Amino acid sequence: MRRLFVAGNWKMNTTLSSAKSLAAEVAVEVQKTQPRVDVAVCPPAPYLLAVKEALGDSKVSLGAQNAYFASPGAYTGELAIEMLQDVGCQWVILGHSERRQHFGETDDLINKKIVAAASRELGVIFCVGESLADRQANKTEQVLETQLAGGFAGVDVGLLGQIVIAYEPVWAIGTGVTASPDQAQAAHLFIRGWLAKRYNPPAAEEMRILYGGSVKADNAAELMGLADVDGALVGGASLKGELFLPIIRAAATLAETK
Ligand code: PGA
Repeated sequence: MRRLFVAGNWKMNTTLSSAKSLAAEVAVEVQKTQPRVDVAVCPPAPYLLAVKEALGDSKVSLGAQNAYFASPGAYTGELAIEMLQDVGCQWVILGHSERRQHFGETDDLINKKIVAAASRELGVIFCVGESLADRQANKTEQVLETQLAGGFAGVDVGLLGQIVIAYEPVWAIGTGVTASPDQAQAAHLFIRGWLAKRYNPPAAEEMRILYGGSVKADNAAELMGLADVDGALVGGASLKGELFLPIIRAAATLAETK
């Protein structure tokens, strides 16, 4: 039984003050309802510590949006895994399409980051997803396969427990267009099948695969209710309590039945 996971990716948004109040709102909800789901928020790096404090002793975990694979040293501007752990991060988002698109992150670089984070016991939310052009050219599975093979290169089966996959079709991110339930389920099933072949069927069964791309309160339950969808990575709708809390509640309700 895979535990549902809802993570908010705040991207390069919020201020110190709005980040703290948003975190506090999420913490209060989770503290109050004790949902049988995992919840994480991933604020911009400068706000990690303040958000950690605002989360208090609630069960909401803290995630970063990027990390570098090397040990602390001369890498101006980068974030070491040890530093993220030092300020209380349990997760890091890696392979996000915005990092691939705007910062030229390759499968090879993403792989080095995944291996470094997972082997140091920092949880990884590993994002994969095809562009609109890929989908229109019927290349979705091919692209997913390349990204998965790249990301998991040299990743031992023993590290899989540190990794969650997020399927995020690029054409659905921030666009208001979500994958249809059929499209989402098919992609998730493909990813799980790939894992079964690359590792083994029980490991594939255990892997949580989140859906991301314009998840909102009104589509969250349907998407997270799909057989191979184990939660959501939420961007825009994670920036306001009134939008994010209903998604957590939808997951909590599903957790009773799924
Ligand atoms: P979105 O972003 O929910 O705003 O589409 C999701 C993501 O990029 O993780």
